[in-house]
Amino acid sequence: MNINMNPNSELNQSIVKVPNLVSVPDPLIKQAYQFQEAMMMYTCAIREVKTKLEVLNDELSVRNSRNPIELVKSRVKKPVSIVEKLKRRNLPVSLESMMENLDDVAGIRVICSFLDDIYAVADMLARQDDVHIIAIKDYISQPKINGYRSYHMIIEIPVFFSDQKKWMRVEVQIRTMAMDFWASLDHQLKYKKEMQEYSQEISDELRECADVIAQTDEKMLNIRKRIEEQGITVTK
Ligand code: GTP
Ligand code: MG
Repeated sequence: MNINMNPNSELNQSIVKVPNLVSVPDPLIKQAYQFQEAMMMYTCAIREVKTKLEVLNDELSVRNSRNPIELVKSRVKKPVSIVEKLKRRNLPVSLESMMENLDDVAGIRVICSFLDDIYAVADMLARQDDVHIIAIKDYISQPKINGYRSYHMIIEIPVFFSDQKKWMRVEVQIRTMAMDFWASLDHQLKYKKEMQEYSQEISDELRECADVIAQTDEKMLNIRKRIEEQGITVTK
């Protein structure tokens, strides 16, 4: 892809036009442009997948009179986390290495209402012929030892740019609101403890919370199904 080294661009302004303070070598500027270009491509890939999810949600909400998707969140991985992950995995720290080795530079989190919505959304996404499935991890049927539950898909989708079609990888995590509640708090607690291991007692209690939440998800699904059987449609 052509690199736009427009001297008036925001990047050029920020890294080159720091008056007389630093002299940035040309190869570094080129790398910075290439990195910015790659991040733009991941942002576009996220937009494409989000559009697919919106279409599915619209279609399903018309068909079933309720929205299977509550919320979609997304993020492009921060440069510092990219470097940290490449180093942790003993991989070269370069743009090529990032694009080849990291599956989660573009990340989307889909928060569903009910358990079965997760599989409905995942199946419909997987059936689209421009979606390549690279990997699936079903942490719902097989939760992690700490109690974490979610359905993870690594997919590849084509993104059309002015001079090329690029297959971009995106990590899609699909979970219920209840699973998201647990995972968000678990993440906060880990962050506060700077990734240290929890004590056995705390791990056990967190696992218990995750199990109670999973039972609640199942109960809510069961209630919805019983209501549907009575011929009443659940609306939002
Ligand atoms: P990472 O190096 O973390 O990306 O793990 P991985 O490549 O083995 O992939 P995995 O599918 O196990 O996890 C990917 C992502 O799922 C993580 O980056 C988190 O967002 C989420 N995740 C996985 N395990 C946990 C967990 O125990 N707690 C929480 N809160 N999130 C988790
Ligand atoms: Mg990750």
